Amino acid sequence: MKLHIALLPGDGIGPEISAQGVAVMNAVARRFGHELTFTEALVGAAAIDATGNPFPEQTYEACAAADAVLFSAVGHPRYDADPTATVRPEQGLLAMRKRLGLYANIRPVQTFEGLLHLSPLRPDVVRGADFVCIRELTGGMYFGEKHEGDDEAWDTNRYTRPEVERILAVAYAYAARRRGLVTVVDKANVLASSRLWRKVGAEMAALHPDVRTEYMYVDNAAMRLVQEPTHFDVLVTENTFGDILTDEGSCISGSLGLLPSASVGTGTPVFEPIHGSWPQAAGKDIANPLAQILSAAMLFEHFGLTAEGAAVRRAVDASIEAGVRTPDIQPAGAPRYGTREVGAWIARQVGEQ
Ligand code: IPM
Ligand code: MG
Repeated sequence: MKLHIALLPGDGIGPEISAQGVAVMNAVARRFGHELTFTEALVGAAAIDATGNPFPEQTYEACAAADAVLFSAVGHPRYDADPTATVRPEQGLLAMRKRLGLYANIRPVQTFEGLLHLSPLRPDVVRGADFVCIRELTGGMYFGEKHEGDDEAWDTNRYTRPEVERILAVAYAYAARRRGLVTVVDKANVLASSRLWRKVGAEMAALHPDVRTEYMYVDNAAMRLVQEPTHFDVLVTENTFGDILTDEGSCISGSLGLLPSASVGTGTPVFEPIHGSWPQAAGKDIANPLAQILSAAMLFEHFGLTAEGAAVRRAVDASIEAGVRTPDIQPAGAPRYGTREVGAWIARQVGEQ
């Protein structure tokens, strides 16, 4: 297969992990006989520095012309420290999602047997946890009407029926090929927008008798996620709740550096780690490239290349088992490997399996 990829390395550790994602993708291409081409484009603080815009038109065009986007991270402390900054790196990510119509963010949460001890939760609680969070990505408070005055400010949590229908459809499609449970997470005891989700949810549930549908308030879901993460199969929720719950979900795996995601919708799909740009680590060759590399596995799988995705996943598992790990997941006293060494090891492993 020929795939043209737009590479958006972004800020902080982004360029370092992006390079490892590319190394592994190229190893897959060599082994399976695919033709990959890459176009790099600016996003986030890097794009603001160069053009004043965190998602320049040229970057949009590179994304629109590609089959997929491999995205890394955006964010810079210069903007975090300044609440008055009107142009922020994160706006680049939001603009990309909106302009590419990426309404569904797929965030799988799984555990790695060799890393169970890293989770702040007990190994017997997290062992076997394996679920997918489906987060609505282009609606809700992130994009609703806003007002920002000195004495009053608001964000509007608006959802329309088609927006709810299409994200629930994604959840049902996942549940049908998994364990058949959809958990709709909302706050229907308080929020009108959540009650629309429930109304549409009841209609969709009737159309999917093969899948069990349950509803859970978001506060309760936050608790169940740490109490009994193995309960969940497919969790679907609105943009803001999904943002919060997926960071919580990431600690089940032990490190934010392990979790990939896919954002899909009407335009070019984007594959990105769920972690941020970790500016303090930039240039130090210590960032964990696994979330980026697993995002590349999701990219291959998106195009039906399941053997390719599986090869990447096996190589990642092998690196963990072999103890070729970055410091965030390496026990104290064990040899430490850099971002580049881990990426190169996995790329080699893909070629040798
Ligand atoms: C995420 C991030 C973004 C979000 C930020 C960087 C705008 O936290 O992808 O989860 O809130 O969506
Ligand atoms: Mg987040």
